[in-house]
Amino acid sequence: MDLVEKINFLKAKHQAVILAHNYTAPEIQDIADFVGDSLELSRKAAACHAPVIVFCGVRFMAETAKILSPDSIVILPNPHSGCPMADMADLQAVRKYKQEHPDTVFVAYVNTTAATKTAVDICCTSGNAEEVICSIPADKKILFLPDGNLGSNLVDKLGRKMELWPGFCPTHNRILPEAIRKARAGHPDAVVLVHPECLPAVVAEADHALSTGGMLKFVRESEQTQFIIGTETGILHRMKQENPAKLFYPLAPEPLCPNMKKITLEDLLFSLEDLSNRIELAPEVIVAARKPIERMLELGK
Ligand code: 13P
Ligand code: SF4
Repeated sequence: MDLVEKINFLKAKHQAVILAHNYTAPEIQDIADFVGDSLELSRKAAACHAPVIVFCGVRFMAETAKILSPDSIVILPNPHSGCPMADMADLQAVRKYKQEHPDTVFVAYVNTTAATKTAVDICCTSGNAEEVICSIPADKKILFLPDGNLGSNLVDKLGRKMELWPGFCPTHNRILPEAIRKARAGHPDAVVLVHPECLPAVVAEADHALSTGGMLKFVRESEQTQFIIGTETGILHRMKQENPAKLFYPLAPEPLCPNMKKITLEDLLFSLEDLSNRIELAPEVIVAARKPIERMLELGK
């Protein structure tokens, strides 16, 4: 049996479901049952009721799956796949801010740790952030955490004042406006799509700022045939597979998330062999962190 056959054999034995983020390596996306963005994966995790969920993404995503499916064994195949942005808003700092600003509504990007989610009011992803912000009464003060870029881009788009936590995604923060201008000069007919975790100056240079799921939908439905893609290049695998007649150009240098790329087929196999690398969360953390996630998911119904 080769590696893929062994994984599929163990997957069937444990009745496991494999979920993968759009940024994971092509071979991981190809073996997954479902590939998606953070919001789609949260919804899938909440609905799948599988005894074992293998989450190929970063830790906060697997934690979200565990919070929504506490009775499932949730596995993060490489325990070192973290998200540096999620680690920029730790629980103590968030609690301190809360004590100092008791009337503020805390909106947490889903890229936060399970511990931090226990102290916030509502979560959002880049796919539903506008809807979440608009659901908060206009007279309420808002703190948006941890992504200052996503927060700024929302303030610019919605005209709603918010306090912003000084966090950022190292992968998207490195993308500069010059990279967009250079790519446009090389491909003047291409539509430029960027992720809203990019700097506001980068979003200003782009045609659209969309979540990874939003980009895939846009490309699928667009009559345009050429696209410059300003996000982690793992997404190009699915874009090319789904749109063989269209052309995609990554930025130079190519944006890479080292943590998403840590997950290998070997990690998947080893984790499925002994169901190791499980996400373990205290029951009280699951209960408290579930509330802001459920509030977010309720909005989309
Ligand atoms: P999406 O929700 O757009 O998939 O983004 C998740 C993420 O981590 C982007 O860096
Ligand atoms: Fe975190 Fe950025 Fe990687 Fe997304 S791309 S998982 S925000 S480090």
